[in-house]
Amino acid sequence: MDRGALEALNNERFEHKGTYFESKITSPEVIDAIEHMEIRDSDVFLVTYPKSGTVWTQQILSLIFNEGHRNGTENIDNMTRVPWIEFSMNSIDFNSRPSPRLFSSHLPYYLMPRDLKSRKAKIIYVYRNPKDAMLSYYHFFKMKTNIKHTINWETFIELFMSGEVFCGSWFDHVRGWYTHKEDFNILFVTYEEMKKDLRSAVLKICKFVDMNLDEKAVDTVVEKATFTNMKHDPLANYTFVPNEFLDRSKGDFLRKGTVGDWKNIMTVAQSERFDKVYKEKMGDLPIKLWWDLCEETTS
Ligand code: A3P
Repeated sequence: MDRGALEALNNERFEHKGTYFESKITSPEVIDAIEHMEIRDSDVFLVTYPKSGTVWTQQILSLIFNEGHRNGTENIDNMTRVPWIEFSMNSIDFNSRPSPRLFSSHLPYYLMPRDLKSRKAKIIYVYRNPKDAMLSYYHFFKMKTNIKHTINWETFIELFMSGEVFCGSWFDHVRGWYTHKEDFNILFVTYEEMKKDLRSAVLKICKFVDMNLDEKAVDTVVEKATFTNMKHDPLANYTFVPNEFLDRSKGDFLRKGTVGDWKNIMTVAQSERFDKVYKEKMGDLPIKLWWDLCEETTS
C-alpha cells in the first residue's frame, strides 16, 4: 500500500460511527444531528454510495417534481433542488422548504433520520456495478483539490476494497441498505437499468413517488436526463461546484456515463481479486444479476 496515499486520505477524513467522512464538507455534529431530523410523509430521499448515479437521479427527481425546471424557466441547480443532508456545500434550511421535499445522501442506513426507520417518507437507493463505481471514484479523486497526493489505480483499488475512501466501504453500504430494506419504504434502482432503458426507470420512479406524469412530460424528463443533455446543462452537470472543492481542469463530473468501463482499465488479475472479495462479502445476496444482464446491451 502506498503510505502517502493513506496519509493524504487521513489528513482529509474523520471516522465517525464506523464510516469515513470528508472533513472539508461535514462534521460529527452534523452527522449526529441528522438522526433527529424532522421527517414528513411526503419527503423523498435519494441514497447512494458515491459515483453510482446520484447526480443523474437528482436530475430525474427534480425534473419529475419541478415543472418550472422542466421548462428551463428556473435557474436553480440540482444540488439545491435535491440538497445533501450531511454535506455543507450549500446551507439550506430544511424545515422551511415546501413539501414535497427532496434530499440526497451517501449515509449508511444506520445514520439516517430515525423517523425513516418507521417507514415514514420514501427512499430511492441507486447502486451500480462496484467496478464501475470504483473507476468513476478513482477519476473523481483526481479532481479533489484537498487530495494533494497522486493516487495510482492499483492503490485506489486497495483503498476502495478496504473501505478507506470517503463514505467507507461500498460492500458495507450496499449490504447494509439491502439487508435492512424491510425497515424502510425503499425502492432499489440500478445505474445499469437506467442505462438500459431510461424511460422505464423514470416510470418506475414516478410510480414509487406517486407522480402521474403524462406521456409528453415523461418524454421531457427522459430527454433532459440523457448523458449528453446533462453534460451540457450547467444546472445539472455539477460545474457549479466551486473550484475550491473540485479542480475541473483535472476532469469532468459527468465523465463517460457508460456501463463496463472498468474493462478498459482493470487487469484480469485485478478483476479476479475484486471478484473474490465481492464473493466473500456479497456472495449471499442476489444483487449481481442486473450487471450480468445489462452489460452486453448497454456499454
Ligand atoms: P462515470 O465517471 O463512469 O462517467 P455520482 O453522481 O453518484 O457521483 O455518479 C457519477 C457517475 O454518474 C459518473 O460516472 C457520471 O458520468 C455518471 N452520470 C451522471 N449523469 C449521467 C447520465 N445522465 N447518464 C449516464 N451516466 C451519468
